[in-house]
Amino acid sequence: MSLIADPSPINLRRAARLLQDGRLVAFPTETVYGLGADARNDHAVAAIYAAKARPSFNPLIVHVPDADAARRYAHWPKSAQALASLWPGALTLVLPLAEGHGLSPLVTAGLDSVAIRVPGAPVAQRLLRAAKAPVAAPSANPSGRLSPTTAQHVAAGLGDAPSIILDGGPCRVGVESTILSLLGAPRILRPGGVPKETLEAALGAPIEVGPSEATGPMRAPGQLSSHYAPQAAVRLNARTARKDEVHLGFGDIAGDVTLSASGNLIEAAAALFDTLHQLDAHARPIAVAPIPERGVGIAINDRLRRAAAPRST
Ligand code: TXA
Ligand code: MG
Repeated sequence: MSLIADPSPINLRRAARLLQDGRLVAFPTETVYGLGADARNDHAVAAIYAAKARPSFNPLIVHVPDADAARRYAHWPKSAQALASLWPGALTLVLPLAEGHGLSPLVTAGLDSVAIRVPGAPVAQRLLRAAKAPVAAPSANPSGRLSPTTAQHVAAGLGDAPSIILDGGPCRVGVESTILSLLGAPRILRPGGVPKETLEAALGAPIEVGPSEATGPMRAPGQLSSHYAPQAAVRLNARTARKDEVHLGFGDIAGDVTLSASGNLIEAAAALFDTLHQLDAHARPIAVAPIPERGVGIAINDRLRRAAAPRST
């Protein structure tokens, strides 16, 4: 029996009950599919790490339906108020943990901060409201593999680890959320669906990028080099492909398949992981046309660089 279920009211109620019972539920957000568990339940959160074979030092994002819910778990600096105007959306804020937060220490991997996100995809919103629980959810893929942007990707990667996979169709944004730390001066820890310019406009101040002395060597293995890796080798900035390679195009460079024939970065982000999943099935090396380093192109290039990095396995 397939675990993939349409997001009907009955299935949403079922999924909410499963979360309350400490089971895992895969659900669509506008960025990628998440593998969710009640963030207050140690056993349920431990099951996420087991299902993904995820290192336990890599903390999870807590998903809540709105900013008011976020404030139960985190201290709320002025900057958070300004940035929460971008919620719901592809933005995760890293904030100091509030006293009496009630979250499992496994969610934060023992840190004194928490990553929180308000997703906007309608199915995610309905699920969070029905479950009445903070939902810890990493991307619903085995650790280190390509992120899932369809229910089928989740089923192929995780089998029956989730008790149900809510099918909301392909994710609209297609790359993970931008992770912004507000622990000190605002700093992007992971480029994602919301570009830096949009964050700076909401904040009214410049934002730093990358790890710093203060944040330490990235406490977020999503930032380690080999990640989001397809099985096939990946070569970047390829204007032409070699004979054995399949060519992934963008804009003027047509390639064998393209991320966006019109050179639209938003369309390219939405197509990125599904295209890599498909090319991966051919087991041929992948040559990728240059993608402009602006807007959401920065997140696309970040994921492609990780896909191209040499891996340990
Ligand atoms: O779009 C997304 O963000 C998706 C959807 C499902 O919401 N989730 C996602 O989760 O990408 P995941 O687990 O694949 O990536 C979460 C990242 C990791 O790199 C983790 O290290 C970082 O968030 N993170 C979590 N808590 C943190 C914290 N307290 N400080 C710094 N980084 C943190
Ligand atoms: Mg991930």
